[in-house]
Amino acid sequence: MLETNNLGVAELKVEGKTIELPLFEGSEGEKAIDIRALRKETGCVTYDPGFVNTGCCKSEITYIDGEKGILRYRGYDINDLAEKCEFVDVAYLLIHGVLPSKTQHEEFSTLLNTHSLLHEDMRHFFNSFPDHAHPMATLSAMAVSLSSFYPELEDTSKQENIDYKVTRLLSKMRTAAAFSYKKSIGHPIVQPRHDLKYCENFLNMMFSTPVNNYQVDPVVSKALNKLLILHADHEQNCSASVVKMVGSSDANLYASISAGICALWGPLHGGANQHVIEMLEKIIVEDGGNVKKVIERAKDKNDSFRLMGVGHRVYKSYDPRAKVAKQMCKDVLAQLGVSDPLVDLAQELEAAVLADDYFQSRNLYPNIDFYTGLTYRAMGIPTDMFTVMFAIGRIPGWISQWLEMKEDPHGRIGRPRQIYTGPTKRAVS
Ligand code: ACO
Repeated sequence: MLETNNLGVAELKVEGKTIELPLFEGSEGEKAIDIRALRKETGCVTYDPGFVNTGCCKSEITYIDGEKGILRYRGYDINDLAEKCEFVDVAYLLIHGVLPSKTQHEEFSTLLNTHSLLHEDMRHFFNSFPDHAHPMATLSAMAVSLSSFYPELEDTSKQENIDYKVTRLLSKMRTAAAFSYKKSIGHPIVQPRHDLKYCENFLNMMFSTPVNNYQVDPVVSKALNKLLILHADHEQNCSASVVKMVGSSDANLYASISAGICALWGPLHGGANQHVIEMLEKIIVEDGGNVKKVIERAKDKNDSFRLMGVGHRVYKSYDPRAKVAKQMCKDVLAQLGVSDPLVDLAQELEAAVLADDYFQSRNLYPNIDFYTGLTYRAMGIPTDMFTVMFAIGRIPGWISQWLEMKEDPHGRIGRPRQIYTGPTKRAVS
C-alpha cells in the first residue's frame, strides 16, 4: 500500500487533558487525523452518523474531489476512460491496478467467456421466484448461491483463485441478470455465446428470442460499455462499505457482493435510477408535467418527497459522471432516432433545480442516476432492470475494494461504536 505523508500532529484537549493525534496526508493532499488512540487516551469515541467525516481506510483505487467534480480510477480521469476504454479493461484496471496489455486483455476476455455459463442447477432457482420478483432480489440470491457451487475457491491468497473468482462473478452475474429478465417476461433463457464480447453478449442474452435473431446495434453496445464504466467504482460509498463490512468478518467474496447488491438496491443509492424514471412518469401523469409543483414539494420540509437523481454526499458540484451521462443520453437518443418526452421533462427539471436557491445553497446537482435511466430506456432496457445494470457495472469496484481490504495490514473486523442513550440499570419488579 502507498505510504501517506506524515504531517506532524493535531492537538486535542478533552476535559483538561491535551493529547496529540498523528496527522497525515494522502497522495492528492487530503488530510486526516489518526484517531485510533482516542478512546484509550481520553475515554471518548467520535460521533459521526452516516460516516460523513470518517475515513475508514487508506485506498489506492478511486479518487474523488467532490468540490471540483473530479473522479479518477487508479489515476485515470473518468472522461478519458469512458471515451477510450472497454468496460472489461476498466474492470481489469480496478482489480489489477493497471490497464491490460493486448495479451492480458485477451486472457481476461477468455476467462470471462469460459465462466459465462451458469451451473444447470442454478438455472432452476429462477423458476422458484414469483414472476413479479424484482431482479435485484434474484441477482443478490444468485450471487450468494455461487459460494455453494464453487466453495473450492475460498482461499483468496492464491492469485489464480482470485482471477477465477473475479471473472466468475463478473461473467456469471451478467448471465444471471439477463436470465432474471427473461424469467420476468416468461421467455426462454438465452445462453451466452463465445463469439460475442462482454456487453454484446449481455444484450444478446436480453433481447434474442427463438423467433428473433437479435442483431447487436453497435450504438447500443458502445453506450452500454460507457455506462458500465461510469458505474464501475466510487470508493467508500454505501454498497462498497457494505461489501467490505461483510468481508471484514471473513465472510466469502460472493456473500459480500450479495450484500452489496442489496445495499445498492436502495432508492437513496443505486435504486435511484429506477425511481428517477418513475418520478418523471408520475410528474407527467399526475401533475400534467408541472415542474414547479414538484420543485416546491421537494423543498417542503413537511413533505418526505425528494427529487430522485439529485444530490450527493460527496459531490458539491456537478457529478462528473452525470455530465458524461447527460451528453451520452442526447447522443444515444439521436443515433437511435428515439424521441422521449421524459428527456425534455428531465432537462426542464434540471434547469429548475440549477436556478433555485434551495438547491444552490445546498450544492445539490443532478447525480449519475438522473440521466442514466433515460439512456437505458432508449436502449430498450426495462425500468426495473436499471439498478441491475448499475450492479453489473459496480461488481469490479466492489471486488477491488474487497481485495484491497483483505490485503490491508491494518485491516480489522468492521465494528463501529455507539453512544448509548437508553435507560440506565433497572430491575424487573
Ligand atoms: N431533494 C430535495 N432536497 C434534498 C435532496 C433531494 N434530492 N437531497 C438532499 N436534499 C437536502 C436535504 O433535505 C438537506 O436539507 P437541509 O440541510 O435543509 O436539512 C440537504 O439537502 C442535505 O441533504 P442530506 O440528506 O443531509 O445529504 P446526504 O449526503 O445525507 O444524502 C443523498 C445524499 C442520499 C444522495 C440525498 O441527496 C438524496 O436523497 N438524493 C436523492 C436520492 C438519489 O438520487 N440518490 C442517488 C445518489 S448517487 C448514488 O448513490 C449512486
